[in-house]
Amino acid sequence: MEQTTSCVHFLAFVLLVFASSAYPFTYNVLSYGAKPDGNFESTRAFVAAWTLACGSIKSATIYIPTGRFLLRNVVFRGQCKNNAIVFRMDGTLVAPSDYKVLGSTENWLLFEHVNGVSIYGGVLDGQGTGLWTCKRVRQGLSQRSNGEFCVWLLVLVNESSASAPVVIDGCNNVKGDSVSVSASGNSPNTDGIHVQSSSSVTILNSRIGTGDDCVSVGPGTNNLCIENMACGPGHGISIGSLGKEAEEPGVQNVTVKTITLTGTQNGHAIMTDVENPIVIDQHYCPDEKNCPGLVSGVKISDVTYQDIHGTSATEVAVKFDCSPSYPCTDIRLEDVKLTYRNKPAEASCSNADGTVSGFIQPSCCL
Ligand SMILES: *[C@@H]1O[C@H](CO)[C@@H](O)[C@H](O)[C@H]1NC(C)=O
Ligand SMILES: *[C@@H]1O[C@H](CO)[C@@H](O)[C@H](O)[C@H]1NC(C)=O
Repeated sequence: MEQTTSCVHFLAFVLLVFASSAYPFTYNVLSYGAKPDGNFESTRAFVAAWTLACGSIKSATIYIPTGRFLLRNVVFRGQCKNNAIVFRMDGTLVAPSDYKVLGSTENWLLFEHVNGVSIYGGVLDGQGTGLWTCKRVRQGLSQRSNGEFCVWLLVLVNESSASAPVVIDGCNNVKGDSVSVSASGNSPNTDGIHVQSSSSVTILNSRIGTGDDCVSVGPGTNNLCIENMACGPGHGISIGSLGKEAEEPGVQNVTVKTITLTGTQNGHAIMTDVENPIVIDQHYCPDEKNCPGLVSGVKISDVTYQDIHGTSATEVAVKFDCSPSYPCTDIRLEDVKLTYRNKPAEASCSNADGTVSGFIQPSCCL
């Protein structure tokens, strides 16, 4: 498998901003011995700045100026004395090029038992060569909610099937605003944001261009809302794969609003040359390998596609390919207009049941 590109632009990922007050204390990592040359290992300086920010009774900012900062695996540990620590990054965090340096730990940057950390700006460079690089940000218990707050950030793993710069796994009440993730369009299996086993995740105002899903939604996701996103290149927003495990939690209540997809494989909302604008595929078999004749045991129901316009890059713009044993039910299409080469596109349905309303083109087969 090819190596993935090494850079992830991580322009402004806001996790949980609990305080909008000014941040009176700023800890510049240079003041604690960090060097922006890409070779000097700045781990200690970052830990020193973190220790002060975490010990501050007021909100605090850790400032990372321009330059390249080499970091080994770091744990940013709480509990902290305040719940408003901001990382303001103008620079790039660089992982060791030799992944063995990270040893057996899977985490590059781990946030543990912290509450209210925001990260603005910056670039994460996984150096492309190492089999690693899992950057995890995990936030511990929040005082404002009983849920566990956490976010994992993963930086491109060269051979993982689930690599994504941002992974939200096992989290409640996570908010991402102005997330920007880019990787080259042909990077294999690089999702932008992967969400699983999480509830109440909101991703707003974001721009994602990767080789794979802009957002992929895995098992155990509830109450996910994605709004105002520009997605492409990539596969669009995907729910699944699901049903790999026999006893797997389902996905419920996913809302996708105001999305612009460009040159993506699958999509919702405004489409520009999208390969499969609307698709449910219960026969999904990515490499046509190891799943011949496989029929999904995942039940899909209650899906609404509303106000979806644009152009399809393939003739069949609407495809519901559901399994005979678990047909799709309650699929609703409302105001859909998709064309293929200036003509109405086509729709294909198998084992799918539902209703249509408003203007529908292609005429539907539900
Ligand atoms: C991943 O990177 C490691 C270290 O560079 C290398 O040994 C390994 O072969 C790579 N794996 C793949 C599938 O490219
Ligand atoms: C569905 O999720 C949204 C957040 O995206 C939430 O506001 C709403 O209450 C949820 N609906 C149900 C029925 O849980």
